[in-house]
This record gives sequence, C-alpha cells and structure tokens, in this order.
Amino acid sequence: MEMEKLLEVHNLSKQFGNSSTKALQDVSFSLGEGRCTALLGPNGAGKTTTIRMLTGLLMPTSGTIRIQGVQPGADHRGLIGYLPQTPAFHGWMSGLEFVQYAAELCGMGRRDAVQRSAELLERVGIGAAGKRRIAGYSGGMKQRLCLAQALIHRPKLLILDEPVSALDPIGRRDVMELLGELKQETTILFSTHVLHDAEELCDDVLIMESGRIALQGQLSEIRAANRDPVLLLEIENEAGSDAREALAKWLQALAKQADSCIIRFEIDPLNSCAAKLIVHDRSEARRIVLEQLLELNLPVTKLEIGYSTLEDLFMKVVNRG
Ligand SMILES: Nc1ncnc2c1ncn2[C@@H]1O[C@H](COP(=O)(O)OP(=O)(O)O)[C@@H](O)[C@H]1O
Ligand SMILES: [Mg+2]
Repeated sequence: MEMEKLLEVHNLSKQFGNSSTKALQDVSFSLGEGRCTALLGPNGAGKTTTIRMLTGLLMPTSGTIRIQGVQPGADHRGLIGYLPQTPAFHGWMSGLEFVQYAAELCGMGRRDAVQRSAELLERVGIGAAGKRRIAGYSGGMKQRLCLAQALIHRPKLLILDEPVSALDPIGRRDVMELLGELKQETTILFSTHVLHDAEELCDDVLIMESGRIALQGQLSEIRAANRDPVLLLEIENEAGSDAREALAKWLQALAKQADSCIIRFEIDPLNSCAAKLIVHDRSEARRIVLEQLLELNLPVTKLEIGYSTLEDLFMKVVNRG
C-alpha cells in the first residue's frame, strides 16, 4: 500500500563523543501520514536517541531526516509536538500557567494562549485541576499536562518517548485512552519497551535492537507473516518424578530426527514441566507428538495447539528468546 510519507529517515547514525560503538547505526524508516507508529525495543536499544534527533534536540553523526514540505536543514520544530521520557516541571506553577507559558513560547498572543490552554486541559481531562499547583498532580495528570503542552501548536506529528512507562496501571489506562483519541487526529510516533502497549495502539511498528532497526512494517502484516504453528505441552509437576527428565530427553531426540516435525523447542525457563514446540505443520506434529506421548506414557496435563504470538517474535528479534 502506497501512503503519504510525513517523515523519512535515511541512514541515521549517532556516535556519542569518541565512544567506540555507535548508539545508532544506519537507521532508516518512514512515518506514514495519519498513522500511529510504535518505536519498540529493550532499554538501551536507541529509541530516545532516535527521537531526540527527530525533534532536533540532538545532532546526527550522519544521515538525513526529511519532513514533508520542509526544506532539508530548515527548522521543522513547529511541526512536531514532543513529550520527553522524563518531563521536568516547575512544581510551583499551576497546570494552566504551564501550558500558557508553552503557548506564549511558541509565539501565541496572551488572549489566544489563555483560551487554547484552557481548552487543551479540558481535552486531556485535567480541566478541573488547571488552577492547582503541578507539585500536587499524580503521575498520570503530569503526563496529561505534558501532552497538552505538546499539542499547543497543533503539531502535524506528535512524538512521545515512553509515555506510559512511569505510570501506575490507572494512569497508564488513562493515557492510553487519550492516545487512542489523539491518533484519530494526528500522526503519532511513540516509543515503548512494552510490546503490549504497542499492540494496543499502533498501526506500524519499528523494532530496534542495539542501535539498529531489527524489524519494521505494518503490525497486521508482521503478525500474519510471522505466525508459526506451535504446540504447548505440559506434564504433571510431581515431586520426585523423573517425567521432566524424560520430557527433555524425548524433545531433544525428536528435534534431532531426520525430517523432524519440529523446527525447535523451548522448555519454559520458569517451569521445566512445560515446553513450547515450534513446528512445520500442525496436523502432522499433533499426530506424531500424541503418538509418542502415549508410547512414552508421559503424564500430560496440557496440550495446546495454536500459533506463535507477536511476543514470541519480539523476543526472537531482540535476541531474548
Ligand atoms: N548522552 C549520551 N552519551 C553517551 N551515550 C549515550 C547518551 N545517550 C544515550 N547513550 C547510549 O546510547 C544507547 C541508546 O540509548 P537510548 O537511546 O537512551 O536507548 P533507549 O531509549 O532505547 O533505552 C545506550 O547504549 C546509551 O547508553
Ligand atoms: Mg529511552
């Protein structure tokens, strides 16, 4: 599917000082206009570094960033709204004062600034707390306030760095709901190290690992293309039984057979009685596995036949699987 590109990044690299390794290496991607993209990856992958370069706060060592309708090298900050990973506030200010201050900083007149700030605080759901000092806000309220600040100049692109990571479950739910509404109106790029957050909200994903893009594309396509058939198997967890050993031994033998029905298997690191088998063909694997389980007389408590999840894929591409 061809779509308008709002932002295109080509071979972006970043080396901090004279450090021997690059924090970011040859990162290329684009953001489709009106799409919501999740920048995913474990801590240290390079998400914040990427985002800070997009916002103009950090200079790339090499590579280019192009934004639709902006000459290369021209100031594009007016098009971007930005929520940093760790926003800083003056606790003595009220929420309303803070957003008005941001509005005036982007050149809005006093009257407009006052009106738009009040509207935005309503919009993000903290209108009633606008006159209270920020020091008394909860984490979720601060995140909402910062979102209001990021939206003040009606940006074409909203960039959020780990918008929910520091929040408790209620704050998290609030902000996710708000982002769900905002994505109807504007292009969004948000980073997270939690796959579940990405799945809930985004159309497209960029998965980073060690400063590189490990995988990118439409969430639905990635999901469809990486669905491997799996068998989940569990045996009785009896003290003193040798069933676990028998399970491990049998799986090793099964995987080694010529034309084995399984591609690979993993014994659950937290439960040595449970295993996941990634297989070529579900029906064939089911037949063989059931047959052999019966023969071995292993005390099976569960056999589930399904498909691998996006979590499995995420763990695989970030080398944690
Ligand atoms: N200002 C800096 N100076 C030196 N190294 C940095 C700096 N900022 C980030 N890094 C390094 O760059 C890598 C990527 O960091 P970061 O972009 O913050 O990752 P993420 O946001 O995905 O957790 C890490 O190895 C980190 O230590
Ligand atoms: Mg970060």
